[in-house]
Amino acid sequence: PRLDEMYNVFDFESVAKTVLKPEAWAYYSSGADDEISMRENHNAFHRIWLRPRVMVNVKQLDLSTTMLGSNVSMPLYITGTALGKLGHPEGELVLTRAAAQKKIIQMIPTLASCSFDEIVDMARPEQPQWLQLYVNSDREVTKKFVQHAEHRGIKGLFVTVDAPQLGRREKDMRVKYSDDGPEEMDGQKDINRDEGAARYISTFIDPSLNWEDLAWLKSITTMPIMLKGIQTPEDAVLAARHGCSGIVISNHGGRQLDFAPSAIELLPEIMDALRAEGLDKNFEVYIDGGIRRGSDIFKAVALGAKGVGIGRPALFAMSTYGDEGVKKLIQLLQDELVMCMRLMGAPTINHITKDMVDIRNLKDH
Ligand code: FNR
Repeated sequence: PRLDEMYNVFDFESVAKTVLKPEAWAYYSSGADDEISMRENHNAFHRIWLRPRVMVNVKQLDLSTTMLGSNVSMPLYITGTALGKLGHPEGELVLTRAAAQKKIIQMIPTLASCSFDEIVDMARPEQPQWLQLYVNSDREVTKKFVQHAEHRGIKGLFVTVDAPQLGRREKDMRVKYSDDGPEEMDGQKDINRDEGAARYISTFIDPSLNWEDLAWLKSITTMPIMLKGIQTPEDAVLAARHGCSGIVISNHGGRQLDFAPSAIELLPEIMDALRAEGLDKNFEVYIDGGIRRGSDIFKAVALGAKGVGIGRPALFAMSTYGDEGVKKLIQLLQDELVMCMRLMGAPTINHITKDMVDIRNLKDH
């Protein structure tokens, strides 16, 4: 199909399934175990209903907002996902260019297929970028990487905390992974590739990482430190108490612990807990997982998220239609958010408030 036949985010996934190499489809589309959390991520949005307000002047809309101090065109970013070259020969660079054009932020993954510097070099001078960090068992490697990232102007450090061991993604394991891994993995070519792309690339991640390491992380960088993969109110409060600048509520796209709840379901209770402890000021809360519609973005913002991340949709759009595909994907979500805000009577992001969503059924599975 042609790009102008893509009417929503799901359309890209359908095309990707037919055109991606089997190992790319397996790696991108898989979730852990029975993929219950992966499916729940989007399904949970279906349990939130809207409370539209009418007779509001919605002639002029403004979707712009800020994320960690950077101006962006809408409360959406492209989250960090490994191995972009499985889906497109230029890998993450496609996402960098599309993010620039649409004025949104790209989070660069530690396990990008392109080198970190290539991705930063591709960015426009004023284009904000974030870094997703897997902490290496060799702390010197991580220290160098983090300090280099800060030197290159990265605006936020997102430490992934939900992956001390990589989830078991059976689809991925069934397709034996044979491509070259990311550059970071050079010298580790002897590890077993028969376990799928995920396991092949993950052996350096430090499972000993714990709350006490935050003091060390803070000592090596002045970038805002964000924890990606928070899944309870308790840990959200701990993150704030340990001096983090914010969190991403996430179950890693359902790829880690199956039966971890969806981020959108956790968001209200996490915001309540932070508020109750007086920790909600100057603390930014993001969510990712299952964002597929403009109304999903609206619901997340209404419940307190500063912004939302998309993972697979960007990979599928990149793999199928390259730069134009990712731009179209973002445009579709933007158009849907425009429509939703207009019909909801919310002319700006600040007008999107909690009383506009009905979450009475959110806990009813
Ligand atoms: C991921 N994700 C991820 N997260 C992370 O912290 N480091 C990583 O290297 C990766 N790699 C990765 C690869 C692929 C193929 C996917 C699909 C996901 C998780 C990602 O950042 C995010 O949490 C989810 O993708 C969000 O869910 P959706 O938008 O894919 O539903």
